[in-house]
Amino acid sequence: MKGIEGIQRVILHGYHSAGFLLVMGVVMVVVYFCRDIESGMVRFEINNNNNGEAEIAEDFAVKDCDFFNGSWVYDNKSRPLYKEKKCSFMADDYSCEKFGRKDFEFQFWRWQPHGCDLPRFNGTALLEKLRDKRVVFVGDSLGKNHWVSLLCLIDPWILEPSHKVAEWHGSLITFRASEYNVSIDFYWEPLLVESNCDDPVNHRVHDRIMKIESIERHAKQWIDADMLVFDSYTWWLEPNMTLVWGSFENPNKTTIESSRVTRYEMALKTWSNWLETHLNREKTRIFFISLSPDHKEGGDWGKTMGESCYNETKPIMEDGYWGKGSDTNLMRTAQSVVQDLEAKGLNIKLLNITQLSQYRKDAHPSIYKRHWVPPTKIELANPVQYADCIHWCLPGVPDVWNEILYAYIRYKI
Ligand SMILES: *[C@@H]1O[C@H](CO)[C@@H](O)[C@H](O)[C@H]1NC(C)=O
Ligand SMILES: *[C@@H]1O[C@H](CO)[C@@H](O)[C@H](O)[C@H]1NC(C)=O
Ligand SMILES: *[C@@H]1O[C@H](CO)[C@@H](O)[C@H](O)[C@H]1NC(C)=O
Ligand SMILES: *[C@@H]1O[C@H](CO)[C@@H](O)[C@H](O)[C@H]1NC(C)=O
Ligand SMILES: *[C@@H]1O[C@H](CO)[C@@H](O)[C@H](O)[C@H]1NC(C)=O
Ligand SMILES: *[C@@H]1O[C@H](CO)[C@@H](O)[C@H](O)[C@H]1NC(C)=O
Ligand SMILES: *[C@@H]1O[C@H](CO)[C@@H](O)[C@H](O)[C@H]1NC(C)=O
Ligand SMILES: *[C@@H]1O[C@H](CO)[C@@H](O)[C@H](O)[C@H]1NC(C)=O
Repeated sequence: MKGIEGIQRVILHGYHSAGFLLVMGVVMVVVYFCRDIESGMVRFEINNNNNGEAEIAEDFAVKDCDFFNGSWVYDNKSRPLYKEKKCSFMADDYSCEKFGRKDFEFQFWRWQPHGCDLPRFNGTALLEKLRDKRVVFVGDSLGKNHWVSLLCLIDPWILEPSHKVAEWHGSLITFRASEYNVSIDFYWEPLLVESNCDDPVNHRVHDRIMKIESIERHAKQWIDADMLVFDSYTWWLEPNMTLVWGSFENPNKTTIESSRVTRYEMALKTWSNWLETHLNREKTRIFFISLSPDHKEGGDWGKTMGESCYNETKPIMEDGYWGKGSDTNLMRTAQSVVQDLEAKGLNIKLLNITQLSQYRKDAHPSIYKRHWVPPTKIELANPVQYADCIHWCLPGVPDVWNEILYAYIRYKI
């Protein structure tokens, strides 16, 4: 470690003699290989705080790392990254402590990639990197969960309350960090294409109707962003959906028999065509968040069928665990659409958070959240029926999605 720090100091102070650089190069290569052999990892860092988090000195350090392959490590020293009650932007959907959750072990797990360490989150560094930029999270309530987590992570790094403000404008919620001239917005668009579920508040719709080829009304709200973070999965699990062309009022309404994957593919096609033709490729960086798994079916991890995440307090420790409810067909569809866009020269990356989130049956709100429709007597008698096993308590799993997003924004852009 000492040797690496020494080299860093030299680099920082800038020696320019060619001979010296040559020697240094050899030393670096040697150090690099030793570490590589020793630990089977490729990394280069300073100030490791022994918490499995690193202040990474050079951007090549994280370039080759697979952040998505790893395991959860119990760490009550460095986790959680913030306190639920302290977060100015917390929402009742994710504040499990406020709504009565008494076990907090779920907050003490850190995601440890096998081949490297995630860089330590630094809100100042993030905001500096995003100075004068607009970031928009576009998607459903899991995207919102992700966005709220990011605001909670940033919150302690901006001390003056008037310098951090969030405002609702219909489907758009705008967060402004005024000192940095940064906007980090959330835009409600659960199916990506236009649908009868687009009301940001009243969207409990079971007969879902979508205009499968229309996205403009939404897209014009975010197409100018510097960075876009998309997610869309959960809303596609409804078995019956109606696809229409033309306007909702127009009688040219075609209901076609379609499978879940066909609908998803059609919508993603509409979305990707729009990006391809309207996006400023030089400017805009895109992330697509892979599906967020739910834990509604306890049978998947050895509980009795019909039980769920209710009462769960420990992660699943089985390496490679995959819940049957996570639709790999939809996941592959998203993956291939993203790859096509990449091949066409868009700056896009799929953040593969599915596997790491699969392990966390303990981290959902369950019954500890605001239930916008109060549970019935029957449900109260059997809490499994109204437990929320889809979203995530905060602090929690979406913080890790953001630590990974942070690593990309800081070191891979
Ligand atoms: C994950 O990492 C482990 C250990 O380094 C390796 O054996 C495994 O093949 C990796 N899995 C994937 C899907 O890359
Ligand atoms: C952290 O966890 C360890 C092991 O479970 C326990 O002994 C210790 O008391 C915990 N510390 C805190 C601050 O909770
Ligand atoms: C966070 O990043 C800023 C800007 O890069 C740096 O000045 C500061 O020292 C960092 N803070 C910590 C605690 O690492
Ligand atoms: C703030 O950022 C926007 C781009 O998002 C830019 O157009 C504007 O000039 C910036 N304002 C200041 C005061 O720098
Ligand atoms: C979906 O549609 C099929 C055929 O129209 C019908 O049998 C089934 O009950 C519907 N399912 C739901 C959940 O509405
Ligand atoms: C009616 O819908 C079909 C799709 O089934 C479309 O091809 C056609 O252009 C539409 N016609 C009008 C007038 O909107
Ligand atoms: C949930 O946990 C409580 C307390 O440990 C226990 O009394 C109850 O039977 C459990 N319920 C289920 C459905 O597992
Ligand atoms: C995402 O991760 C899963 C499990 O680790 C893996 O099977 C899949 O190939 C990955 N997809 C991509 C695009 O990396």
